[in-house]
Amino acid sequence: MKRQLLIFLLTLALASASSVIVRTFSDNEVERFNHLVVDKNTGRVYIGAVNRLYQLSPALDLVIAEKTGPEYDAFECSASECSAGVQKKLTDNVNKALVIDYTTTRLIACGSLFQGICSVRNLHNISDGTQEVREAVVANNATASTVAFIAPGPPNPPVTQVMYVGVTYTVPEGFGTSGSSYRSEIPAVSSRSLDKDKMFQIAQMAVTTGTRMFVNSLARERYLINYVYGFSSEGFSYFLTTQMKHSISSQYVSKLVRVCQDDENYYSYTEIPIDCTSDLQGGRNYNLVQAAYVAKPGSDLASDLGITAQDDVLYAVFSESDPSHSNQPSDLSALCVYSLKAIRRKFMQNIRNCFNGSGQRGLDFISTSYACVPTVSCLFFHITISL
Ligand SMILES: *[C@@H]1O[C@H](CO)[C@@H](O)[C@H](O)[C@H]1NC(C)=O
Ligand SMILES: *[C@@H]1O[C@H](CO)[C@@H](O)[C@H](O)[C@H]1NC(C)=O
Ligand SMILES: *[C@@H]1O[C@H](CO)[C@@H](O)[C@H](O)[C@H]1NC(C)=O
Repeated sequence: MKRQLLIFLLTLALASASSVIVRTFSDNEVERFNHLVVDKNTGRVYIGAVNRLYQLSPALDLVIAEKTGPEYDAFECSASECSAGVQKKLTDNVNKALVIDYTTTRLIACGSLFQGICSVRNLHNISDGTQEVREAVVANNATASTVAFIAPGPPNPPVTQVMYVGVTYTVPEGFGTSGSSYRSEIPAVSSRSLDKDKMFQIAQMAVTTGTRMFVNSLARERYLINYVYGFSSEGFSYFLTTQMKHSISSQYVSKLVRVCQDDENYYSYTEIPIDCTSDLQGGRNYNLVQAAYVAKPGSDLASDLGITAQDDVLYAVFSESDPSHSNQPSDLSALCVYSLKAIRRKFMQNIRNCFNGSGQRGLDFISTSYACVPTVSCLFFHITISL
């Protein structure tokens, strides 16, 4: 999509920033911290790390350190069981998702062990009364991406909340296509129930449809989709991804994926490419999104973007591809700012183009591609359109 008005070179922004460290927390025993969330009501801080979960006070004092790994596991084991002959080895538990469910005041933590399962924890005490759910939800190795966030969804939005999850498909080294049938059952994008009777199950399921989207089985090993960020805005849930431009190509692009929150079958699943280009420096194309955040603009930015201070804005940092590894970022980066209003307009425009035949049906990699068939309410078209 077209660049929206503002591009700041990140280096300029950083050069003028100065900071004072007030408090620190560290643990030398732990290889890496993966995620951090702050409870907006209590100020408590939760950290998901390799083999640890931490609960800190608002002043960053350690309250609880919970050990989550390593444990004996194997790629061939399902989330809940393992046949007798399988050779298991001691495996790290890398935190893959950490979200606060404010509706039920619980912490949801998902790790890479046991096909990527999640646990539900007490926000007051993350070791007390933990419920572990043996359902494969997130990526099951150290590096493959996962994005999770809670937003309205079926069966009854906006009253019901679900967990939206985007997961990179994984193949273990040395296993080839026969790797693990368990991974092929995990959708690339899904909405998972937070109802305690069907915790983390696909929120709505039918034989071939439901709140889930798979990558075509013929393409999913070559065509890895990297999920970078996810957010909810005005009735839609979005994911920012990086992926190959075509299924046979080595060029990478960033895309914005969108589903309508009251769509029980993901018929509204759509994608548009998202660009961050600069007119300076001979028209650089920062093609790989690295990190993003959705928030409200200040009044100056709002007026520059032609929106109000109550509208949502997407702030995203992009990098140029490394010349020799096109899916890896180089040192060059830029911050691009988009109004969600402009993004919605772009999705609409693409959908309209699709109707009158000027949309391109790319997407050889999505399993079921319906034609542009509108159904009820919130614009349901199961199609992906590239520019
Ligand atoms: C948290 O819960 C565990 C298990 O019930 C208990 O042993 C521990 O003392 C509690 N910690 C705090 C800080 O309350
Ligand atoms: C994890 O999965 C990703 C995506 O399939 C793959 O590229 C990577 O090599 C895997 N890492 C390991 C350690 O198996
Ligand atoms: C289809 O509609 C779009 C937007 O309404 C317009 O820009 C485009 O030119 C139309 N294409 C055709 C082939 O009519």
